[in-house]
Amino acid sequence: MADKLPYPVELVRSWTLRDGTPVAIRPIRPDDRQIESDFVRNLSDESRYFRFFNAVRDLSEAALSRFTQVDYNREMALIALICENGRETEIGVARYVVNPDGGSSEFAIAVADAWQRKGIGSKLMLSLIDAARGRGLETMEGWVLSGNTRMLAMADGLGFTVDASAGDPSLRHVVKNLVTHDIPSATTANRETT
Ligand SMILES: CC(C)(COP(=O)(O)OP(=O)(O)OC[C@H]1O[C@@H](n2cnc3c(N)ncnc32)[C@H](O)[C@@H]1OP(=O)(O)O)[C@@H](O)C(=O)NCCC(=O)NCCS
Repeated sequence: MADKLPYPVELVRSWTLRDGTPVAIRPIRPDDRQIESDFVRNLSDESRYFRFFNAVRDLSEAALSRFTQVDYNREMALIALICENGRETEIGVARYVVNPDGGSSEFAIAVADAWQRKGIGSKLMLSLIDAARGRGLETMEGWVLSGNTRMLAMADGLGFTVDASAGDPSLRHVVKNLVTHDIPSATTANRETT
């Protein structure tokens, strides 16, 4: 089994929204349990359903461990944070898990409802794509509910192909080839950045 990789400090970023709000983006850590749990609990029913395909409000202890104790060899979770009253609040998270073939990965993303449509989802996805490329991954795929038009539009804009899912009309399968560079990287994209 591969040695456990150290915390990937090279993926830590600071960024500023167009309205001037400073946002930190960094890989999740085991001590982020509480902010991750609060983030999921505070999602609207619709956002939670789009992300998890179910309505469960509180993550189980096992799920919280899985989401925060990341083995950076085979997965990554980048969280977006703001500082409120001297405390960090998680306002978004994008993650991938490497598939058993070792070259492809599956992503998932959610942004807190009050912070959607400010460019955070795109920034997290671009950062996640950069991280996956940095690990030598070749493709990134995801499963998106057909009614999730915002995610489908974002995926299309980020260069994912969008296809019907064989056997399930309620889902779309989105796939991006990470070997070809058809979009700007997170560090050069200036949409909503300063
Ligand atoms: C889908 C989701 C992650 C988007 O996050 P967001 O922070 O709102 O995304 P952004 O602000 O970066 O992008 C929003 C807009 O820019 C568009 N956009 C983003 N990147 C783009 C790009 N590169 N090219 C073109 N359009 C783009 C999107 O279509 C969207 O359009 P809108 O302004 O009409 O809404 C967010 O709505 C969410 O968390 N939804 C609930 C959970 C979910 O659906 N997860 C996906 C399951 S995998």
